[in-house]
Amino acid sequence: MTFEQWTRAVLKRVEAALEHYLPSEKTVPEQLHEAMRYAVLGGGKRVRPLLCHAAGELTGARAECLDAAAVSLEMIHVYSLVHDDMPCMDDDALRRGKPTVHVKYDEPTALLVGDALQSQAFITLTADVLSPAQQASLVRELAVASGSVGMAGGQAIDLASVGHALARPQLETMHRMKTGALLRASVRMGALAGEAPGTDALKSLDAYAAAVGLAFQVVDDILDVTTDSATLGKTAGKDAKDGKPTYVSIIGLDASRALAQQLRHDAHAALTPFGARAQRLAELADLVVDRVS
Ligand code: IPE
Ligand code: IPE
Ligand code: MG
Ligand code: MG
Ligand code: MG
Repeated sequence: MTFEQWTRAVLKRVEAALEHYLPSEKTVPEQLHEAMRYAVLGGGKRVRPLLCHAAGELTGARAECLDAAAVSLEMIHVYSLVHDDMPCMDDDALRRGKPTVHVKYDEPTALLVGDALQSQAFITLTADVLSPAQQASLVRELAVASGSVGMAGGQAIDLASVGHALARPQLETMHRMKTGALLRASVRMGALAGEAPGTDALKSLDAYAAAVGLAFQVVDDILDVTTDSATLGKTAGKDAKDGKPTYVSIIGLDASRALAQQLRHDAHAALTPFGARAQRLAELADLVVDRVS
């Protein structure tokens, strides 16, 4: 199977699973559910679900278990995007090529879409397809990755840093928290949905995920200055305009590109113990670094 065929097959499962685990828009309150579905369905690269599936294939996880884990990750991710775009944060009007939730609906709805998606993510992790032990470990992984020592904490540092030139270690910490933590959880949760990986295997996967997680935000910073809004599906050039500390603003475009290549190399190197079994993860590291949107 080629990478494209594998990706298409996984995305098909993930779209169906998202549809399945989201409340219907006929459920009261209809407008909130409609807005949740507007935010989640029909758009997005689904990088976290892809990483989750690829890691789970390595540990022999059942596809149904990976679907639940992947959906929970995407719901947390979309919640973070909906809140990230609100006027009190980055104040963006375009996301995934469509008006952001607070523009299409209103601010209270956007706030509640994020809140409700967060809850729905954890409801999804209590699906019967997962054993009670898996449910507990996956809930913990996702909660830690998305909370104050992970994504939400990274967003707090991001907002507090506007207009400041962060030192490089602080910039790296911010990126690892706001974006890296959930990507790292995507790999760990995929692996944990299968046969419990040994300590060494989990350590290697973690090293891979840390590199991919940081690379993802480095590339996001690069694309903000190199790509147009139509291609990105979100407003380009926004970081400089808002005075955000980014890899591009702190080390420059060329050094940022070199760093992304170094992180790709680190990600591939971490997969060495798995040999050909880690092919999908290796290809996903390439996708993260080579992407154009
Ligand atoms: C954008 O994430 C926000 C960051 C964490 C950098 P993605 O680039 O994964 O956004 P979608 O899901 O494809 O829209
Ligand atoms: C977003 O970072 C990180 C999270 C949403 C957690 P950005 O603010 O750079 O994401 P974009 O560029 O708006 O997608
Ligand atoms: Mg932001
Ligand atoms: Mg933003
Ligand atoms: Mg960005």
